[in-house]
Amino acid sequence: MDNKVATLLNEQINKEFYSAYLYLDMANFYTQKGLDGFANWYEIQAQEEQAHAMLMYQYLHNNDEKVTLEVIAKPDKTFETLMDPLKAGLEHEKYVTSLINTIYAAAVEAKEFRTTQFLDWFIKEQGEEEKNASDLITKMELFGDDARSLYMLNSELAARVYSAPSLVL
Ligand code: FEO
Repeated sequence: MDNKVATLLNEQINKEFYSAYLYLDMANFYTQKGLDGFANWYEIQAQEEQAHAMLMYQYLHNNDEKVTLEVIAKPDKTFETLMDPLKAGLEHEKYVTSLINTIYAAAVEAKEFRTTQFLDWFIKEQGEEEKNASDLITKMELFGDDARSLYMLNSELAARVYSAPSLVL
């Protein structure tokens, strides 16, 4: 595999685990606020991020590349309002989209077409991730100020269940 592409994928493993850590911290915030549904939504988001990391880990191994695990950074965002994690989540996903795009561009440049095919799933996934984050902000803007509506939104988010990515390597 092209060295630059392999290095970027290896770095992305770390970034996906950081994403998991960041979302777990958001779940942590909502748990402390008594919003178990919001906490559930972000706990599942954290599970998804771990799955993303493991797909990259597995893909590198499948291609005989060495994987180096680095230190996972401490989540350093502070949240005051119930809206703060939602906005931080959307910003973070936009950032992750830019990272995936960078790896994709490097793979195209190196004619690593097996890797572009692998990354196609992530390109699509990022579209969903951004939409989910944006939808949450819209719902909070609409319903967050009313206690009864917030209770119902919390119940809706409590119903989210984890499903593993349907990506065959
Ligand atoms: Fe791994 Fe939220 O993208």
